[in-house]
Amino acid sequence: MTSGKILIVDDEENILISLQGILEDEGYKVKTAGDAETALKILDREEFDVVILDIWLPNMDGLQLFETMKNQKREEEVIFISGHGTIEQAVRATKKGAFDFLEKPLSLEKVVVTVSNAKKQKELIEKEKILSQELRGDVEIIGNSPLMMKLKEQITLSAPSEGRVLIFGENGTGKELVAKKIHQLSKRANAPFIEVNCAAIPSELIESELFGHRKGSFTGAIENKKGKFLLANGGTLFLDEVGDMSLITQAKVLRALEEQTIEPVGGSESIKIDVRVIAATNKDLLSEIKKGNFREDLYYRLKVIEISIPPLRERGEDIILLFDYYLDYFAGKYRKGKKVLDKSAKDALLNYSYPGNVRELKNIAERVIIMHQGDVISKEDLLLQPTEANAGEFDNFTRTLKEAREEFERKYILNVLKKNSGRISKTADELGIERRHLYRKLSSLKIKRRVPDGDD
Ligand SMILES: Nc1ncnc2c1ncn2[C@@H]1O[C@H](COP(=O)(O)OP(=O)(O)OP(=O)(O)O)[C@@H](O)[C@H]1O
Ligand SMILES: [Mg+2]
Repeated sequence: MTSGKILIVDDEENILISLQGILEDEGYKVKTAGDAETALKILDREEFDVVILDIWLPNMDGLQLFETMKNQKREEEVIFISGHGTIEQAVRATKKGAFDFLEKPLSLEKVVVTVSNAKKQKELIEKEKILSQELRGDVEIIGNSPLMMKLKEQITLSAPSEGRVLIFGENGTGKELVAKKIHQLSKRANAPFIEVNCAAIPSELIESELFGHRKGSFTGAIENKKGKFLLANGGTLFLDEVGDMSLITQAKVLRALEEQTIEPVGGSESIKIDVRVIAATNKDLLSEIKKGNFREDLYYRLKVIEISIPPLRERGEDIILLFDYYLDYFAGKYRKGKKVLDKSAKDALLNYSYPGNVRELKNIAERVIIMHQGDVISKEDLLLQPTEANAGEFDNFTRTLKEAREEFERKYILNVLKKNSGRISKTADELGIERRHLYRKLSSLKIKRRVPDGDD
């Protein structure tokens, strides 16, 4: 049985009825409209796979409707129906991007075949779009909140410069995405973007990974191997989780940055390189420096430009935008119909604290698309995990969301501070945020703390 959604627009009642009949027999969901204006109203609310459009309609004709749909960048495939006298126009419309046309009197068999082909074509295009997006890593950075607008500005300003960039942000805030965007907008866009996850590679191997090695330089080095620095030559090297690099490796990376050369493990000659480094971390490197885990000189080399990505809970304006974006994205990927959020779902999403930030939100959207059958999503369908920050009881529902959130954060932070006798590091640790971030919170929530003896 086929599935798919079809809209038929024709002013002849009997054509609507007979087409609807055979297409429904084929398993399609079908809607009909008697004129272009009604069709536009339906298209405002719903997406279809295929629109079957009579050329001659009262008032606005089918060709005008087709133009309007194109201007709105709609993705339905359009099949025209033409009587004699309008075949010329139908041919022209096909040249302008309509899928095909059917001549009156209609052959029902031909209708079924053409609709099925149009539907296949649409699926192909969708699939291709997703593939090319994944290959190019070209996922948009979504968000209109003031914090995101500022971030986007920082990206645009820093990208064309050759300056090294250090990106801070909690897990899942989009550090890798930002790094890729900077590369894409830079002069190096056509050269490689190479990623190294410093936390995932065992320390014995990371040097060979970064700088390459010569055959026979250690057990297991059977062939010469190019390191990531060399692979990224002319392009960008993304040092992810740079805070997890060992001190020994840090010294070698520092040297590579200073001298613009690398030496493969077991090699004797050094190789000149031209690489822009972008590094990312979710650690507070300043406190790592204090603890002796991170080299201060490397830190300053890496952070010529510093970009800090705010956690999702601090940019509530972006939540629904991001969620809708990913609902559409996954609906396309899994070939499901469009789904919309009802008010309860929106409220729940806005109240959630997203410890895993955008990655977590994206996972929730993906799960809903896979698991939920209907078109409308409500709170229960989201299966949000209750987190500490969400578990508080709210008795007073007259405040704005922002006020309620601030009051909750205030209370919660005060409690944890009190428990830790006002010690910032410990409190920040327990809250799972960075110290700098906690200081900012305290001042924005106007919390004064009594400094205990011996605090940091
Ligand atoms: N502003 C955004 N718009 C759209 N997608 C986003 C945005 N921010 C993050 N994402 C998506 O969320 C996911 C996590 O992002 P990314 O991997 O860049 O985060 P990260 O900070 O590197 O995470 P981690 O610290 O866990 O490595 C990715 O799939 C990314 O595409
Ligand atoms: Mg990452």
